[in-house]
Amino acid sequence: MADLDDIRDGKEYGIGVAQKADGFFLKGSANLDWGMKDRLSRIFNPQTGKAVMLAFDHGFLMGPTSGVERIDLSIVPLIEYADCLMCTRGILRALVPPTSRKPVCLRADAGTTILTEMNDNVVLDPVDAVRLNAAAIAVMVAVGDPETEALTIANLYGAVDSGQEYGLPVMGVTAVGKDMARDARYFGLAARVCAENGANIVKTYYTEGFEKVVACCPVPIVIAGGKKLPELEALELAHNAIQCGAAGVDMGRNVFQSESPVAMIRAVGAVVHQGMKPKDAFQLFNDLKNT
Ligand code: 5RP
Repeated sequence: MADLDDIRDGKEYGIGVAQKADGFFLKGSANLDWGMKDRLSRIFNPQTGKAVMLAFDHGFLMGPTSGVERIDLSIVPLIEYADCLMCTRGILRALVPPTSRKPVCLRADAGTTILTEMNDNVVLDPVDAVRLNAAAIAVMVAVGDPETEALTIANLYGAVDSGQEYGLPVMGVTAVGKDMARDARYFGLAARVCAENGANIVKTYYTEGFEKVVACCPVPIVIAGGKKLPELEALELAHNAIQCGAAGVDMGRNVFQSESPVAMIRAVGAVVHQGMKPKDAFQLFNDLKNT
């Protein structure tokens, strides 16, 4: 056990100094095997180094929440505008056309719903992920939750072992517990713990001081959108995260609960891949909404 009475806040973040990539476009991924790099290159665009992932795995936790009641009607029309799809195997098999030809980041854990506290998770057999031609698997990690922290870190660890065996990148999804401070210190800790335990991608939340969270995480970070915001604010969130060094977004509600989901995912794409300013992206959203 480390001396917990002398945990000093980090100071040397090297903000503005890019981590060396050594011949591969994604940070921390240069030493991975070919299959891993191929899968990561299907998720992240090698030209921009970024990805717009469309998350619609919410049903595994929340049931048929607003926007995912009928995935065939609400989500399928958005697929062509996403770089990667994030969903569960049930929805993938039932509703996502295999002809979509989009990489899938498969939600690989289960065992928690909104009716209970965070609880024990079961992790998908990686063979099923391979069978589904997943480009990555996603596993939740509840850093700071006394009941489930150790178990979810062990889940991530096991998923990384399987991922190495099958060439499947693993995305560590940082959970936000009810009592945890949602600040750069917490997200910096959670993201780093995921990376230290072998995650190839980390999904977390944008916060003030996010450049430090990104700088200290040696693998690409994507941000969740979180609760539905007005469109301009959601575009600002995406823009700020990209400016701080995020490699993309894995957004759900701010896309599929938008008044115009197609316009919104296209505007988010312009922010992520072209660095479009939020006001211009909002203009783009309004123009597309009215076409
Ligand atoms: C939950 C998830 C969701 O996919 C994630 O929260 C993204 O969706 P949203 O942008 O709606 O927050 O990983 O653990």
